[in-house]
Amino acid sequence: MTNLDAVLPASDGSPASDGSPASDRYPAAGASTPASPDGGRLADSGKLADSGKLADSGGELAGGGELAPARPLGPPVRDPDAGWQLTRYADVAAALEDDRLAVPPVPPGTPGTMAGLRATVARFSAGEAHARRRALVSADLPDPARLRAEAYDRTAGILERSAGPVDVLDRLARVVPVAVLAARLGAGPAAVPAVREVAAAYPPGGPAARDRNADSALAALVRLLPPAPAEVVANRIGLLVQSCDATAGLIGNALLRTQTADGAGIDQLLVDTLRYAPPVRLTRRVVVAPVRIGGRRLSPGEPVVLWFETANGDPDAGPDVLTFGAGSHRCPGAAQALALAGGVLAAIRARCRFDPPATVHFEASPNARIPRFLEVFPR
Ligand code: HEM
Repeated sequence: MTNLDAVLPASDGSPASDGSPASDRYPAAGASTPASPDGGRLADSGKLADSGKLADSGGELAGGGELAPARPLGPPVRDPDAGWQLTRYADVAAALEDDRLAVPPVPPGTPGTMAGLRATVARFSAGEAHARRRALVSADLPDPARLRAEAYDRTAGILERSAGPVDVLDRLARVVPVAVLAARLGAGPAAVPAVREVAAAYPPGGPAARDRNADSALAALVRLLPPAPAEVVANRIGLLVQSCDATAGLIGNALLRTQTADGAGIDQLLVDTLRYAPPVRLTRRVVVAPVRIGGRRLSPGEPVVLWFETANGDPDAGPDVLTFGAGSHRCPGAAQALALAGGVLAAIRARCRFDPPATVHFEASPNARIPRFLEVFPR
């Protein structure tokens, strides 16, 4: 019996901007939009590689793959370049719950720009601003049961209209969850390509050119969403962006695990995927006050990497999968993510044949596990 309650406790790569003005690429609110939610631009879909085998445990690509190996299990280690590496379940869980470790702060930014977005969303906020913004997000979260049904219907519709094989990532996993959420928030299907572009530039610390390219997609999203105070709109965009890559990765990784999970219900498949092949492999913190974790003393200013992927597989792991985080920043959209992924996978399962590929390529990313290309054959 699946216990989803036990489970419920950010991609890289440049956006493929064509440089045209945003107004040419995205219709304004109220403008007519394509009826199909999969009207987004083509992503840089990879092909199945002839090297790099996906391990059964949801582990590494052995040779030639783009997925960097996860840090091996052990006590906290200080990497001279990347900072403290936490891999044991107890250490990661303790760090997530401890206020002496904070989400790395982002600099202020001009409203309407990617920097301004990061500075206004719950994800990168702290203290009172974080609590206020998180409340805004929570108030906007739709009912999971409806999301699941809508994700199923949209997926079924796309599959029904498809004459040949369908790339699950580009046509379904990166489209349907965002389209369903965007519709709930009052934006049409034109929001999907814009969310994808903003999501690609969302992690802090990227090149300025990437931010500038995404600014036009961001402006388009602001026009596509209903008018509201700037902080509300920014956090609606944050919600859409947070849902984009991680949920796509969950769907792709779960589909890959169907080869080892014959007959398992979809809920159990999702739980196992979150544990063994998490779409979000790690998160980051910075030490803001002296703290001891796992017997090591961490000092203010030191960066810390929290390895969900390794911690989930710790033989001493607790019952909760850490992939949705924990503590004050824990993913508020966990139930929604499971519902959206469950709806998409149920429709695929009902209508398609999937021949698991011998080899898989993943998006190049320091923290995400997202297959690039997985083909299904509508029956
Ligand atoms: C499988 C899919 C998903 C995974 C694995 C995931 C994972 C996470 C994690 C680990 C965090 C916290 C990061 C940290 O503490 O450093 C987070 C934050 C967040 N997630 Fe998710 N997420 C997923 C889907 C979603 C969805 C569907 C939504 C919206 C409906 C969403 C909205 C958010 C928001 C708004 C935050 C920021 C919360 C805060 O900082 O207080 N996520 N997510």
